[in-house]
Amino acid sequence: MSKNVFTEMDGKFSGNDKFQNEGANYFNPEAFKELVHARRSIRKFSSEKIPDAVVDECIDMALLAPNSSNLQTWEFYRIKSEQVKKDIVYACFSQPAAATASELIVCVARPSKWRDHCKQMLETFKALPVETPKSAIVYYSKLAPFVYTVGFLNSLTPLKWIFNTIVGIFKVVPREPISSFGLALWSIKSCALAAENLMLAFRAHGFDTCPMEGFDSHRVKKAMGLKGDARIVMIVGAGKRADGGAYGPRVRFPREQFIRTI
Ligand SMILES: Cc1cc2nc3c(=O)[nH]c(=O)nc-3n(C[C@H](O)[C@H](O)[C@H](O)COP(=O)(O)O)c2cc1C
Repeated sequence: MSKNVFTEMDGKFSGNDKFQNEGANYFNPEAFKELVHARRSIRKFSSEKIPDAVVDECIDMALLAPNSSNLQTWEFYRIKSEQVKKDIVYACFSQPAAATASELIVCVARPSKWRDHCKQMLETFKALPVETPKSAIVYYSKLAPFVYTVGFLNSLTPLKWIFNTIVGIFKVVPREPISSFGLALWSIKSCALAAENLMLAFRAHGFDTCPMEGFDSHRVKKAMGLKGDARIVMIVGAGKRADGGAYGPRVRFPREQFIRTI
């Protein structure tokens, strides 16, 4: 097998391997199944507030979502300002899931943060109680910058495409992202996983949510004062389910339609 940064990064943080057992003994498939089944998209909430501690904990759970290269290029905005909330509800086409929610949490992808976060990761490694393997340092100092740099106004896109196409004939290469669009997609994927953690966390606490992408992103960004690379991935409305809040029974197409075995 040819050596590469992934084969070399064999969990060799050494010096204190307590982390090896993190979560290893957890086993509760029934509780998980119950939680997943209990989450529904709820469009009408009562006026009951969600305690701050619960909101904080749910956001903390979002932050524990798996994410690409662990670069955490995401932000979660809890909307507390009445005016901003009003503007966001309007930008969400005044849908009840937003208008009646006692909490609005805007999940934002920040693709361009990868560079700062690579540096932050290298600094963070220095403070860990374990010794960082060289491969991890090489990953954040060399490989990640190589993969995620797309250049000003996508100036590197043609070069990256040519490089990947030619070198890719002979070896395995990371084909994406090669443009700012690809980089945004890269960041959005991880942020969406965090949004799911957030929603499951609220449900675990007895509250409901509705993920929304039915919004005018330009107006939402304006209302929040967001600029630049910020991509609104989802707005999560949360609160206590009101009567009639579930608009219908759960509908899913037959599993055979989606599952293939190769
Ligand atoms: C990315 C995304 C965007 C969504 N946008 C909206 C939305 O704007 N308004 C809404 O009422 N529901 C929205 N939903 C909720 C879906 O309609 C809902 O998840 C789907 O109908 C399945 O129902 P369930 O979540 O109860 O299983 C969205 C869901 C996702 C994942």
